[in-house]
Amino acid sequence: MCKIIVQLLSFLCIILCSAQTVHSCQLFVRDPSPLFSKTFGSKNITFRSTENHIKLNKGESIQAYCGSGIVVTTNYNDQRHNQYKMASFFCDENNYIQIRGLDFDSTEEYTIYCSSSSSSSLYESKKKLPNCDEALSYGIGEKIPLIGTIIKLAICYDIETFELKYANYIAYEKKDILISPEQSVNSKLGVELEQKVDDLQNYFDFMSQQSFNISRDREPNTFFRAFSFDFESILQDEQLRKQLDKWTYIFNIMWWSQLRQNNWRFFLDALKERANSEKYMVFVGSYGNATMPITRSSSDPPEELAVQSYGLKVSAPMFVWAYVKLLSPSKAEEFVLIGHNSPYMESPDHTEFCTTDICDSILWLKESKFGHLRRVPTLGYTFCCRAEEVAKIIDNFPMPKGALETTTAAAVDLTTSMTFL
Ligand SMILES: *[C@@H]1O[C@H](CO)[C@@H](O)[C@H](O)[C@H]1NC(C)=O
Ligand SMILES: *[C@@H]1O[C@H](CO)[C@@H](O)[C@H](O)[C@H]1NC(C)=O
Ligand SMILES: *[C@@H]1O[C@H](CO)[C@@H](O)[C@H](O)[C@H]1NC(C)=O
Repeated sequence: MCKIIVQLLSFLCIILCSAQTVHSCQLFVRDPSPLFSKTFGSKNITFRSTENHIKLNKGESIQAYCGSGIVVTTNYNDQRHNQYKMASFFCDENNYIQIRGLDFDSTEEYTIYCSSSSSSSLYESKKKLPNCDEALSYGIGEKIPLIGTIIKLAICYDIETFELKYANYIAYEKKDILISPEQSVNSKLGVELEQKVDDLQNYFDFMSQQSFNISRDREPNTFFRAFSFDFESILQDEQLRKQLDKWTYIFNIMWWSQLRQNNWRFFLDALKERANSEKYMVFVGSYGNATMPITRSSSDPPEELAVQSYGLKVSAPMFVWAYVKLLSPSKAEEFVLIGHNSPYMESPDHTEFCTTDICDSILWLKESKFGHLRRVPTLGYTFCCRAEEVAKIIDNFPMPKGALETTTAAAVDLTTSMTFL
């Protein structure tokens, strides 16, 4: 429905905009671009400018919004950082742009941009994510006046242990146009932005990438040194990672580089391609503890694959998983993709999580580069399972507990009635 409106409007715009070739005012725009908002009839349309300028006819006005504050400059580099988030630009009868809402006035041509590309905040949500009862549910996003709430990502996070249970987001979403009134954008993520949370990093110590690197490079164990590991975000989607840069301390995990740079990347590439035509919800998390090969007496417990620095320790998870779900009312498609995050596995396979590896039943996965390379152990052996099976193994797996209990209850009933027969 929305899609149709957008298409209709862009079609109308093409007709109207090309008919009106004489524009009186130009407002130049630079990255990071503000959001622009304009009323067309009964709808307000919000968009990011794809060009470096916006044209306005005499008497027209447009609103600009930057969560981080609007910056206005002129040709004479008269730069003013403004504490204002919103301003409106009006093309007057003398072809000058008048700014309303900012303490700035000039007859020069204006260039505007946002003072920072990230304007999101972390919020606690009373509405709980699935199977996240022991931890807390959070959303990262922003509240934009007149438009509503944009939620980029939701997380299930244990604030006592600083442990990420999982994160969820919509894969490769390109939402450049929003139409209001529309309720909460992205409310599909299952959280609400309620109570703003201060930056934990200012109060607690987290491993930085730099101290991880220093300790990693000093590690004497030759088995450790034979492979490469890094401390990087569990969100390897470039666009998302850039937007959530502030929160790396929440998302960083110890990756085996081969998995991250090969099969996990190939999976994301396949998903990105697929996301051009279908919308997917993705939950990501990690599971288990990777260990070093046992070289001494076999009665010693295996040594954890970890890096320590000044009292902080990060351990490599044994697996990284992504629960991928098609968001479509008419079609169902879902699977959990699980990658081995350890180079020391002797014969990696799927049996710890499920009876059948179902990656090949999803055509777009099977036919991708990922599909061809996913079983190569040196690139990070990766497989797929049904979510119901994985939910029995992984704590806090994002599947409502009720859904599982019904299946178990049905099975129990069956055995009971069989005993009576
Ligand atoms: C559109 O935006 C204007 C301000 O620019 C606001 O007054 C109006 O209520 C908005 N209309 C809708 C339908 O959201
Ligand atoms: C840490 O090491 C990785 C290589 O594994 C490098 O790409 C990264 O830039 C380093 N980061 C810092 C902060 O030194
Ligand atoms: C990994 O180790 C932690 C303690 O360090 C433990 O609580 C957890 O149960 C372990 N996970 C698995 C899957 O064995």
